[in-house]
Amino acid sequence: MKKTLIIEAPNSKKAAQRPPVFRSVDSRTIPPNLLDFAKGKKFYIRTYGCQANYRDEETMAGYLSEAGFERTDDPKEANLAIINTCAVRENAEEKVYGEIGSFKANKEKDPSFMLVLAGCVMGEEGVGESLLKTYPFISLIIGTHEVSKLPLLLSEVLKNRQTLVSSSSFSSEVVENMPSLRLSSFEAYVNISYGCDKFCTYCIVPYTRGRERSRQMSDVLKECQDLVESGYKQITLLGQNVNSYGLDLKDGTNFATLLDKVASLGIPRLKFLTSYPSQFTDEMIAVMAKHKNIDPWLHLPVQSGSSSCLKRMGRRYTREEYLSLAKRIREKIPDIALTTDIIVGFPGETEEEFEDTISLMKEVRYASAYTFIYSPRIGTPAARMVQVPHEITQKRFLRLKEVVDDLTKESSDKMLGKTVEVLVEGVSKKDPNKLSGYSRNGKLIHFEGPSYLTGCLVPIKVLSSKTYSLHGELVGDPLLLKAKDLAYLMSVDPFLGAFKNLGDVLSKDPELQSLGEKYIELKKKTALSMGKGKEYEEAKKTLLSYQDAIKSHPLLENYRSMEKEAREELSEIAEILR
Ligand code: 5AD
Ligand code: SF4
Repeated sequence: MKKTLIIEAPNSKKAAQRPPVFRSVDSRTIPPNLLDFAKGKKFYIRTYGCQANYRDEETMAGYLSEAGFERTDDPKEANLAIINTCAVRENAEEKVYGEIGSFKANKEKDPSFMLVLAGCVMGEEGVGESLLKTYPFISLIIGTHEVSKLPLLLSEVLKNRQTLVSSSSFSSEVVENMPSLRLSSFEAYVNISYGCDKFCTYCIVPYTRGRERSRQMSDVLKECQDLVESGYKQITLLGQNVNSYGLDLKDGTNFATLLDKVASLGIPRLKFLTSYPSQFTDEMIAVMAKHKNIDPWLHLPVQSGSSSCLKRMGRRYTREEYLSLAKRIREKIPDIALTTDIIVGFPGETEEEFEDTISLMKEVRYASAYTFIYSPRIGTPAARMVQVPHEITQKRFLRLKEVVDDLTKESSDKMLGKTVEVLVEGVSKKDPNKLSGYSRNGKLIHFEGPSYLTGCLVPIKVLSSKTYSLHGELVGDPLLLKAKDLAYLMSVDPFLGAFKNLGDVLSKDPELQSLGEKYIELKKKTALSMGKGKEYEEAKKTLLSYQDAIKSHPLLENYRSMEKEAREELSEIAEILR
């Protein structure tokens, strides 16, 4: 039987502890046996859950491609597969069981096939061990803290031909310089902090993702600057609680400053997730109002509209405080679209508390809301409280859904007849003849247009509304819109910028200018001495030596090599246009 080595298994008591933050810079060394193994092999990753998980997918994909694996979208042809799990609500484990089963065929076809289980479920006590009993062909189980150790752990699995479980509950690392294979070339998520210290009584995240720890502002800014220069149109700053960003650094850094600085980098669209109401300051509202490129959209989870329920949830604000914050935000940003998360059937939720949630929703007039039925998570305090009967929760959930539908319809209808900017995501999932994308206020809009507009920002006139999506038409010639997009891409490309600058420097350089003037003079002299034997030979020799001096001038050499690259970039752009 195959051996299993448990390096570390999750432990919920340990997971609740908050060890000191440990910062490191990854050297990105890929072990030789993994480089050998990866040759000609393909990997596949399936991710569930929140944006933090999708960001982890991009990092794991980055490591695998550095090792030499190629990405595939077809799970059947994968030689290595990762299932990246979510533990926020129940059924996550059952979903994982079904998923693992589907990879048995890969193992039968390819005995060297490796299956990796990752994500938050793997941080839950006992899950990994029980999965291994049913599915002995699993190669590696890692928690969210081990993402940067993926190459090393895979190498160990290959070396010792054994299954490894490495899911530490107890890590407070911030690793920089991790590779990344991004899922999109025009919208990107950027982690600003990891983990959460809020310990809302229903939530598993503070246990699975560990202590709240911020990345240094300079590292976040560098990542965002690179994205701007690569032509990204949208950045979403990510943290379980973005509003407490920087407070742990204890050097005066805070989210308002970070937001202000990122917005100033000039990304066309900037968003952030997720906000914690009691830490949303007026300074943050002012920064949002100041920058046109910060979307007028804010996801502000309230969870419940009842102060007593919020107290049992361990949320650190009351109904009144939340309403006052929503009012202050609307005063400064009148067209803002507010969205939220609501939990129905939280332990002990009374009819009156539920009615408070309904009335708060109507008062805030959310543009949309995510609604969740409370799901007990083992190890969290709420799981030990008295639960609301299923039938009551179900009824409340349906009632809540009606209210959400009405509010969503109301805010969608308000957009009818307006022309709004849409970031084109690609061909619509429902209709291959249509494109779809999101407006700045987070509404999904479908319209007819050519697929080459994917990744472009285009004006769309909204014609009709179907509550959760809108339909519109493109305003303007699609080719001109694409040309505008290319002009933008060229304007942010630092290489093309440097090339242009060098051209300017070159034309003004005094040394090159005098060499050029002398050259013209010598050229004339050579022409005039033609047929004069020795005099001509001498003049020609001097002319050629000047020619060499000009050709090998460092500025010109630099310009020529840049010109070659610029031509390549321009032909790539021409290829896109074709
Ligand atoms: N049950 C139901 N919903 C939950 N959420 C978090 N934990 C639970 C749980 N145990 C919801 C919250 C959170 C969103 C991401 O998931 O509303 O904001
Ligand atoms: Fe979970 Fe609360 Fe932290 Fe959000 S703030 S991740 S709901 S503990």
